[in-house]
Amino acid sequence: MSTVLILGGYGTVGREAAAALTRRPGTKVIVAGRDPGRARPVPGTTALRVDAADPADLAGALDGVDAVLMCAEIDNARVARACLERGIGYVDVSASPHVLAEIEELDGLAAGQGATAALSVGLVPGITNLLARVCAERSPGGDLRIGVLLGSGERHGPAALAWTVDGLGRLGGSWTMDFPAPYGRRTVHRFPFSDQYTLPRTLGVGAATTGLCLDSRLTTVLLAAAGRPAVARLLRRPRVRDLLLGALGKVHLGGDGFAVTVRLGTARAAFSGRLQSRATGRAAALLLRDLPALPAGVRHIEQLVDPVAFLTELAADGFDLHLDLHLDPDSCGDR
Ligand SMILES: NC(=O)c1ccc[n+]([C@@H]2O[C@H](COP(=O)([O-])OP(=O)(O)OC[C@H]3O[C@@H](n4cnc5c(N)ncnc54)[C@H](OP(=O)(O)O)[C@@H]3O)[C@@H](O)[C@H]2O)c1
Repeated sequence: MSTVLILGGYGTVGREAAAALTRRPGTKVIVAGRDPGRARPVPGTTALRVDAADPADLAGALDGVDAVLMCAEIDNARVARACLERGIGYVDVSASPHVLAEIEELDGLAAGQGATAALSVGLVPGITNLLARVCAERSPGGDLRIGVLLGSGERHGPAALAWTVDGLGRLGGSWTMDFPAPYGRRTVHRFPFSDQYTLPRTLGVGAATTGLCLDSRLTTVLLAAAGRPAVARLLRRPRVRDLLLGALGKVHLGGDGFAVTVRLGTARAAFSGRLQSRATGRAAALLLRDLPALPAGVRHIEQLVDPVAFLTELAADGFDLHLDLHLDPDSCGDR
């Protein structure tokens, strides 16, 4: 029997990962957060009250645990250190470059303890990193372009919405990319997802840029307007930010589909489906299954698994997930 502790385990991503893990025989799943009594129960799991920001609370929760999945963004490097010091495996879905950079510093500790920390797990970063590796292996050299299309009708978690609002206006630039049907060619706006910062190092490619659009063209126009520096500054004022997050939690203008597409030279690869939170949770659950057999140290997902095998297995998991590889020289029409 192996025990997995999910911090943020009854959140939007955490509960998807928990549901996938409970289907695996021999796995005990503990979903943890500050107030599990107020959350909808996750069937087949044990709930635990843990404040990840409280070191004593966290230390108690780690007793008897084999792996931790971090689905909250709170002191992640400290949580990772507490796990690795005890030889506990660690998986993180964070999309924040500074969070991942801090955890990378723990590579020596992880290697010394024989434990693995897997970073860049989820959709973006995560699936985008694996698609990028597929492209890099077929078309070495050049710059990576990554496009992310999210459904504005999906009920994204409060933490993911806050992360997105805080990312508005941080980076400039837009370009077009081709997404799988039914989306077609869309304009994406550069967004501070962590994959673009880590991939040039892990894959040895040139620069990487990641852009975001929404399934609804109208909300994408609003996203671009909100990303203008003066507007973004206004949206970061606490009262305005709270009002906007409240409204975004209630208004659902599009569908719940998502698509990510990556282009490098002549290679293009895409992955699409419904419910990005589900895809993120299931990708994390799949990686957790493989964690005990992976090399010790701190690594990003594209350094740990075979990308095509992993994405094919994830796509077979259902919910309209599709892997779409165009690796011949004539397949690339983006600009
Ligand atoms: N890689 C990817 O593709 C990807 C995709 C989606 C989301 N994400 C990331 O995943 C994270 C979670 O997103 P989400 O949509 O699941 O958000 P969410 O629904 O708001 O879930 C966050 C969870 O964290 C818990 N939490 C917050 N502070 C905590 C603390 N101090 N100690 C313990 N638990 C705490 C919350 O419960 P309590 O408030 O009750 O403690 C909640 O259950 C975000 O950081 C987001 O950026 C990554």
